[in-house]
Amino acid sequence: MSNSTLFKEYILKDITLKNKVVMAPMTRSRADQNHVPTSIMAKYYEQRSDAGMIITEGTAPSPNGAGYPRIPGIYNEEQAKAWKPVTKAVHDAGGKIFIQLMHTGRVSHPLNLPDGAEVVAPSPIAPASTEMYTDQKGNQKIPVPKEMNTADIEQAIEEYVQAAENAITAGFDGVELHGANGYLIEQFINPGSNRRTDEYGGAVEGRSKFALEVAARTANAIGSNKVGIRLSPGGAFNDVNPFDGQEETYFFLAEKLKEIGLLYIHLVDHSSMGTPEVPKTLKEGIRDRFEGTIILSGGYNRDKAEKDLNDGLGHLVAFGRPFISNPDLVERMKQGVDLADPDFNTFYTPGEKGYTDYPKLELSNVG
Ligand SMILES: Cc1cc2nc3c(=O)[nH]c(=O)nc-3n(C[C@H](O)[C@H](O)[C@H](O)COP(=O)(O)O)c2cc1C
Repeated sequence: MSNSTLFKEYILKDITLKNKVVMAPMTRSRADQNHVPTSIMAKYYEQRSDAGMIITEGTAPSPNGAGYPRIPGIYNEEQAKAWKPVTKAVHDAGGKIFIQLMHTGRVSHPLNLPDGAEVVAPSPIAPASTEMYTDQKGNQKIPVPKEMNTADIEQAIEEYVQAAENAITAGFDGVELHGANGYLIEQFINPGSNRRTDEYGGAVEGRSKFALEVAARTANAIGSNKVGIRLSPGGAFNDVNPFDGQEETYFFLAEKLKEIGLLYIHLVDHSSMGTPEVPKTLKEGIRDRFEGTIILSGGYNRDKAEKDLNDGLGHLVAFGRPFISNPDLVERMKQGVDLADPDFNTFYTPGEKGYTDYPKLELSNVG
């Protein structure tokens, strides 16, 4: 145990993380119908602030990006204000917190969006095998999205910038751009969802342009030391599949993100959730080209985390599902005690059940 690296400090440029355990971004749908954060969210994140760093659930930077019911947003003042108690609670407990900016793009349904918002994407192609849950009508077929024109693209980039500025005002330590799991940024990167023939489509440079413009302009607005990005090379979520030339695409992205000076790349490998494993050479190639902090994620336990950190595959490790049911995950891993299993039925349901009522170690020992 004494040679553990997972529980040692990590200097992430301007901030010092008390350990290398990151809480992975997880949608929990506890905001209100208008995508405004609620007070139970402060309690939930505060309970998990032993993590070296928390990355919040995917949060809409735009009304058009709020495709799921009750996900939070940070595109207006009311939402930004409602995030303040969350950042304060985490900071008061000694933690650090980044907000994940998730524009859902075509993974959406009009019933979930605010009035006047629309389902938009790089190309008019619906994610055919994915359904979208709505509070009003249960699961619904996802409609064909509106193809974004140049003005729509400029608007979306501006929305990311404004959302990042709102996040800093709300007290976040930084933002994570969600470029993974088939949401808007990945819809541009992947040729299966991007059939554009203009400068935002086609070859590697074109398909990467939206991601890189969002990254560069967000970094320019709030500082490159405050902006990270999540990528899922070879990801197979939300009808976005592995593609020929993906290595070239992600290596190009890694090089350009290094030039922008982004704080970190958060790499997703969802093979623990049934998608194809991301080849190690792809992860190493991204790491070597980016040269900055790499957060690993997907299916980690303590031993696997220590191994990959010691092997130099990445610098920090994100844990998702274990954090849902073990608010004191860091302590449990330190002590080597069994972890509680999460209740899948309450992943996205409103209220405190299955959210803030998982006990910490001392309580479970007593109980
Ligand atoms: C309930 C739930 C919600 C999730 N929501 C998000 C999300 O909003 N943004 C994101 O990037 N990943 C999301 N993920 C993926 C996780 O961040 C993580 O990559 C995944 O759970 C695999 O890690 P694990 O094996 O440690 O759970 C979600 C996962 C779960 C289980």
